[in-house]
Amino acid sequence: MKISADRIANIERSKIRKIFDRAPKNAINLGLGEIQFRTSKILIDYAKNILDNETLKYTPNGGLTELRQKIAEYYTINFDENVCVTVGAEEAIFATLFSHLNPNDEVLMPNPAFIVYDSIVKMLGGVSVKFDLDATNNFRINKKFFLQNISHKTKILILNNPSNPIGISFTNDEMDFIVNECEKRDILLIVDEIYRDLYLQNRPKSFLQMYENVIVISGLSKSHCMSGWRVGWCISQNAELIKPIIKSHQFICTCAPYLSQKVAIKALSLENTEIREKLRKNYDFARKFIEIKIPNLKIIEPNSAPYLFLKTDSDDMQLTEKLLQHGVIVMPGSIFGTNGKTFLRLNYGLEKNILQKGLEIIAKNI
Ligand SMILES: Cc1ncc(COP(=O)(O)O)c(C=O)c1O
Repeated sequence: MKISADRIANIERSKIRKIFDRAPKNAINLGLGEIQFRTSKILIDYAKNILDNETLKYTPNGGLTELRQKIAEYYTINFDENVCVTVGAEEAIFATLFSHLNPNDEVLMPNPAFIVYDSIVKMLGGVSVKFDLDATNNFRINKKFFLQNISHKTKILILNNPSNPIGISFTNDEMDFIVNECEKRDILLIVDEIYRDLYLQNRPKSFLQMYENVIVISGLSKSHCMSGWRVGWCISQNAELIKPIIKSHQFICTCAPYLSQKVAIKALSLENTEIREKLRKNYDFARKFIEIKIPNLKIIEPNSAPYLFLKTDSDDMQLTEKLLQHGVIVMPGSIFGTNGKTFLRLNYGLEKNILQKGLEIIAKNI
């Protein structure tokens, strides 16, 4: 018997998970994309109260109306069936591509990028086309590389802003350029903005109001340290783009968990200043540490937490392996695309004393 469908048999298991699973017990985790702080006590207490007093039940497919309204309010747009609450941003990415991509459609995406986009496109029978961000210019958009790869066959452009793994955001000029190119060719733009609220200086501008045919994806896993609660969303100014997603979401999971949705309403009324402050301190610390004690790692200047994308002068895979043996997990840049070769991605979203231990091990072994 053939054990699995072709669409999944040919997909490689997440390389991030593969590295993580091989790590020695008690390894310091600067690798996974999770912020390792606890969810705020206010939210935990709020959840306990709901558990004591309410029945957890299904919600409408698109999510609780109050939450959808809150999400629309966050982007200062009107709510009109244009929001779908999902099981984390990951399900939002899946449901969005599932609802808008036909087999053999081309999806353009940057190199390097969050690895999930490529895998989901392939699972759905689409064709991933990559454009290189300019590794010689701090991974900014190089218009030539972009225009060489966009074409009348491009159905969807998927971006991540701010970027995982690089931690940078597009400039206003880059955003105008992207939107203009999509408009000209009637391309659906999907922008994953899950790191938008972990800014180091100013909150980056959202793509949402720049283009009618954009779907923005986000969630609370990063901004509110709620990865285990599984709340995300997709939103557009154009409700017609969200309706098919709500339809497929019914057959994928019915709805995001009731408890998490209720807590998400509360979370969206709280500022995440404390989390950002902690990340900012860790960033300052890690940056200074690296500049002084590991000067052969060169930092790409980020404007958002929690990643440092570090240029090394050696093979990123071998380096990751060596650090793994010494008890520190980092991610090799090349798993995010060929253009990430010789880089390491380091996540500083964990308690500072553990971060320091991890950096000391890296300093000794690099
Ligand atoms: C760019 C990006 N998008 C989406 C996700 C998934 O987020 P969620 O936990 O909300 O599914 C991640 C998680 O690492 C991410 O880095």
